[in-house]
Amino acid sequence: MKVVLTGANGGVGRIVQQLAPEFIHAELVAYSRQELDVLDQEALMECFLMQEPQYVINAAAFTNVDLAQSESQAAYRLNADCLEGMVRACDRTGAVLIHLSTDYVFDGTKRTPYTEDDVPAPINTYGSSKRAGEIKVLDYSRGVVVRTSWVYSRHSRNFLATVPALMHSQSGPLYVDTFQINSPTYGPDLVRALFSLIKGHVESGLFHYTNSGGGCTRYEFACKVREMILHKKPSAVLAPILPMGTKIQGGALRPAYTVMSPEKMGRFTGIAIPHWQAGIENII
Ligand SMILES: NC(=O)c1ccc[n+]([C@@H]2O[C@H](COP(=O)([O-])OP(=O)(O)OC[C@H]3O[C@@H](n4cnc5c(N)ncnc54)[C@H](OP(=O)(O)O)[C@@H]3O)[C@@H](O)[C@H]2O)c1
Repeated sequence: MKVVLTGANGGVGRIVQQLAPEFIHAELVAYSRQELDVLDQEALMECFLMQEPQYVINAAAFTNVDLAQSESQAAYRLNADCLEGMVRACDRTGAVLIHLSTDYVFDGTKRTPYTEDDVPAPINTYGSSKRAGEIKVLDYSRGVVVRTSWVYSRHSRNFLATVPALMHSQSGPLYVDTFQINSPTYGPDLVRALFSLIKGHVESGLFHYTNSGGGCTRYEFACKVREMILHKKPSAVLAPILPMGTKIQGGALRPAYTVMSPEKMGRFTGIAIPHWQAGIENII
């Protein structure tokens, strides 16, 4: 079996490359943006015709939520429009397209975990462009969309990944956001879920994948990280964590609550879904 990966140098793409030899009995052909620009429809077609993959994992995306507001055309081109060419190229070669999407397709007004049956209602351009892309992939008979959220790993550059270092380096308290409740997702857990779809020969459908445990705020996540570091090394000197009193102003609107239920993914693939606190062990 052959799997083509696009957006190979991104946070998720790099984990796919790291874990593929261990978890899938398939040849992985990974393309960075420099090697395959997914906006170039001819290049996509030529590449897929040459490689004839059974699966394509599309990890290429416009992921800067704030920048997407001011650069909405660029966000739509990458997160939505280019999916037409990708679907066409997959269709010509018979490949299943596994496309990643986001919890930001929801407006955040629910207070119980979002399921695949909930109606998307994005409140920012990133979310609406990703939703437009989802629709194109789900219209394809061999299209799979996996929505995820707050992906972190030892090597990612987002807040969740850097919180241990921040606590070690900061002298004063670390003020952390309490306004958003989301599901953290340990990157390697997400990638194992993507591989389990391939191993299970899943060919279409919409799935949520995040870690389990009902989500948390960034503040709760940081407190848990602190507690676990101190449990391992009681003598560690760490900045105290305090809840941020006011919302950060500016930037794109963000949904207040986007916890998603990964129950369907577990049912389809048989994989266990680790609790969000389990992933922290790997970054401290
Ligand atoms: N990370 C999260 O917390 C999170 C949460 C929800 C959903 N997701 C979804 O998960 C997917 C992967 O996200 P990620 O965290 O890996 O994002 P990322 O780290 O920003 O990676 C995106 C990758 O896309 C590449 N790219 C940009 N334009 C391209 C083009 N024209 N052709 C080919 N590649 C291009 C980028 O290339 P360069 O390296 O050259 O910039 C980058 O490597 C995305 O669909 C995202 O929406 C992520």
